[in-house]
Amino acid sequence: MKQILNETNMNYAEKCFKEAIDLGINFKINQKVKNKIFDKNMLNQLLEVPINGSEPLKVMEEFKKQILPYCTNFSNVNFMGFPDAGNSISGILGALIADLLQQNLINSSFCAPIATFTEIAVIKWLREIIGYEIKPIKNIWNVGGIITYGGTGSNTTAMLLARENHNTKTMTEGVYNPKDYKVIIPKGIGHYSIKGSLMWIGCGDNVIEVETVGFKYNLSKLKETLIENRGKIMCVVVYVGDSRTMTIDNLTGVYELVKSIDSNIWLHADACHGFSLAFSKKLRKKIKGIELYDSISTDPHKVLAIPYCISALLIKNPEKMKLITSTSDLIMQEDFAYGQITPFIGSKSWVSLKLWFAMKSLGVAGIGKMIEKRCDLATYLKKLIIKSENFVLLNDVNINSVVFMYVGNKNNINDVKYLNDLNLKIYNYLLNEGKYYLHKFSLSDDKGIIKKDATLSPLRYMSGNDNIREKDINEMLNHIIEVAKEIENE
Ligand SMILES: Cc1ncc(COP(=O)(O)O)c(C=O)c1O
Repeated sequence: MKQILNETNMNYAEKCFKEAIDLGINFKINQKVKNKIFDKNMLNQLLEVPINGSEPLKVMEEFKKQILPYCTNFSNVNFMGFPDAGNSISGILGALIADLLQQNLINSSFCAPIATFTEIAVIKWLREIIGYEIKPIKNIWNVGGIITYGGTGSNTTAMLLARENHNTKTMTEGVYNPKDYKVIIPKGIGHYSIKGSLMWIGCGDNVIEVETVGFKYNLSKLKETLIENRGKIMCVVVYVGDSRTMTIDNLTGVYELVKSIDSNIWLHADACHGFSLAFSKKLRKKIKGIELYDSISTDPHKVLAIPYCISALLIKNPEKMKLITSTSDLIMQEDFAYGQITPFIGSKSWVSLKLWFAMKSLGVAGIGKMIEKRCDLATYLKKLIIKSENFVLLNDVNINSVVFMYVGNKNNINDVKYLNDLNLKIYNYLLNEGKYYLHKFSLSDDKGIIKKDATLSPLRYMSGNDNIREKDINEMLNHIIEVAKEIENE
């Protein structure tokens, strides 16, 4: 039997796992960003139910031929648009070990006796690094954070906390009037998980978008909105690195304004990207004030070279988790059962082990250096773009991403449609070519760089790969110029 691991097939299992590791390393080191493009017409081949199985190594052969060539290689240095290469050796080690050890963090007594406590340690480390107060941990309600599978999960739990903080009976009685549970987000740069989560948790599509200046809240507009909707706002969300421009909001300014108008409003910092700056002594000052916020979403899988998936929601006042606690004798009503404070998730693997390994191995100082290098590379590209005839820069480079547009010789600088079409064509060309990946999205030109408030289709570079060098960035820009000229001459 070569299917279920036991003492009779250990050597075979080892051979399988070694092959998997060879495959992964070879893929990360040698594969292009995209090798083959998957054609949706090929889907039918994948849909056939495998009635008669075959041994794992045979499946591996099939996988190598039919699946692997279509995978995107986040590790390639030309994968420059999206976080993260996930290449920390210790992070991958933790991920592999977590799957081998099969712990379940729903409870501590019999499913995850030590895993629960290493997870508590990781959350405590993050809380301390970010600047939250640390108190003795005597039970799960003193921990002040949970591990989720992504920023979306962390943000959704934050919205649930905000909802319950606004009206503590909602857990038991439900939402009577969703219009009384409004959430403020900055216009045009909010992540869809806030709007989505409000709809998922019964609060309806009740976000209020407030205008921004330079992708930060316009504080006087924010004040007006807070006053107009007094008593009906349950949360204000700020971005410590928004998904598009990676701008860090005015954390102290927003905090002081909101709390001066209504001290019960829950302040949530979506720091999925920006919490990484807390690891660097040099960069930490950019996120000063984050420790004032009631909750903070962090995504190690976006910024710390850790493989997918891991996010952590940190809570300033750990006891607030009681607001959304659910218990059952199935979870085990015990002091340290995570299942009691982790909404939406039942059984949970030891996802935090990869972060535990990476933090132990790199240390805060090592991670800090890594983040500084990522930010320096973004600044390097920013300077090239500012100097170049061919491009315009659209964001203040606060963290590790650069939003820009190809504008050629600037003859068409005011023709938004022409520039959007051209940049979308560049994006699609790169996607089909498979050599580079730069990200794209729509962005309102709130700085008026091309045309005030026009919707732009820029390209976005992001240093989420620690192997990128300045030379790679030079080559990427030259390649874009060549591609753009080819498109323009068509
Ligand atoms: C600022 C921000 N928040 C939340 C998320 C959601 O994170 P995830 O994809 O891990 O669920 C993202 C993802 O891009 C993001 O950029």
